Amino acid sequence: MPPINLMDYQPLAKQLIDRSAWDYIQGGSDDEITLQANQAAYTKLKLRPRVLVDVSQCTLETSVLGQTIAMPIGIAPMGCQGLVHAEGECAMARAAEAAQTVMIASAMANYSLEAIAQAANGPLWFQLYVYRERQITEALVRRVEAAGYQALVLTVDVPFLGRRERDLRNGFALPQHLHFANFAPTDAAGQHQQTLGASGIATHAAGRFDAALTWEAIDWLRSLTRLPIVLKGILSAEDAQLAVQHGVDGLIVSNHGGRQLDTVAATIECLPAIVDAVGSTCEVYLDGGIRRGTDVLKALALGAKMVFVGRPLLWGLAVDGQQGAHHVLELLRSEYSLALGLIGCPHSHQLNRHYISS
Ligand code: FNR
Repeated sequence: MPPINLMDYQPLAKQLIDRSAWDYIQGGSDDEITLQANQAAYTKLKLRPRVLVDVSQCTLETSVLGQTIAMPIGIAPMGCQGLVHAEGECAMARAAEAAQTVMIASAMANYSLEAIAQAANGPLWFQLYVYRERQITEALVRRVEAAGYQALVLTVDVPFLGRRERDLRNGFALPQHLHFANFAPTDAAGQHQQTLGASGIATHAAGRFDAALTWEAIDWLRSLTRLPIVLKGILSAEDAQLAVQHGVDGLIVSNHGGRQLDTVAATIECLPAIVDAVGSTCEVYLDGGIRRGTDVLKALALGAKMVFVGRPLLWGLAVDGQQGAHHVLELLRSEYSLALGLIGCPHSHQLNRHYISS
C-alpha cells in the first residue's frame, strides 16, 4: 500500500536510513519535550467550521516576499540531505519546483548552493548562519546573490548547537563521502570532525558560529545586500518587534524542530503573540510539527503567511528521491485544500482566528 499521509512515510524511510543518520534527523535536544510538543499542540486546537459557504473553488495560491507561489507550504532548511539520498538537496529543489513552492536551501547542504540553483527553477531562498569570520558570511551572501536566490534566511537560534543526546550516544559525524559543499574542506567552516563528548555537527557549530552575535549583525547583513532578509528562530513578541525595527522582511516562528533549547513552547503556541506584535510590518511564517493539512490551516488561521515542513520531506526524499519529496508536498496540499473546503473558507487568505475555538 503506497503512503497515503505524511506519517506513512516515516517507517518506510526508517528502513532505508542508517541508524545514526536516522537519529540525527528524527532527534531533538535533551528530553525532546519541545519536539513532541510541536506536534501535540495542534491536537489541542479545535476547529470551528462555517457551513453553507460556496467552497467549490478553493484557492491555495499565495504571495510571499512579493512572489506568487502555488500553496502556503514550503520546505524548511535542512542540512546534510545527502544522508538520505544521493541526489540530496538537488532532488529536493526539483520537488519544490514541481510543487511550485519555496525551498529554503541550508548553508550546511551536501550540494553547493550553485548546484542546487542549477538543479531547478522554483523559488529558492538561502539559509545561513553568521560565522565568527564575517568574511565567510559575506562571501556566501555574494554567491547567493549571483546564483539568483530570492531571499536570505538568517537562523538566529544557534549560538551553540542544542544538546542532542541521540547524536552524542551515536558519536554522530558526517560519513566520509559527504561534506559541507558550500565550503572548501580545508576552510574552517568546512570542517566537521567529531571530538570527544560532542557530535561532529556540534563541534562544527561550536568552532564556527558566532555566539557573540547581537542585533548589530542584522544591520550589518542589511547593509551588505538588497535581498529580503528573514529571521528564523523567533519565539517572543519582543524579538519580533526588534526584528521589525532592524528592517527585516520576514520572520519564521521556529524552535528548530525541537533541536535547540528544550522545553520551549510549541511554535503554534508562540505564533499569535508574534503576529499581534508585528501587525502588517513584516510577514510571519512558522515551522515545527506540521504533519496534516489541518495543522497548516490552524497556523494560517492564527496569522502565519505560510508554513515550512522539515522531517517529512526527508522521509519522502529517502523513500523515492524527488518523487517522494514531491509526493509529501502533494499529500499536504490536498489535505489542506480539503480542510479549507470543510471549514467553509474558500481562500487561504480569508482564514482568521474565528475558525479556531477559543
Ligand atoms: C534542521 N533544521 C535546520 N534549520 C536551519 O536553520 N538550518 C539547518 O541547516 C537545519 N538543519 C536541519 C537538519 C535536520 C535533519 C532537521 C530535522 C532540521 C531545522 C528545520 O529548518 C526546521 O526548523 C524543523 O525541522 C521544523 O520542524 P519539523 O517540520 O521537522 O517538525
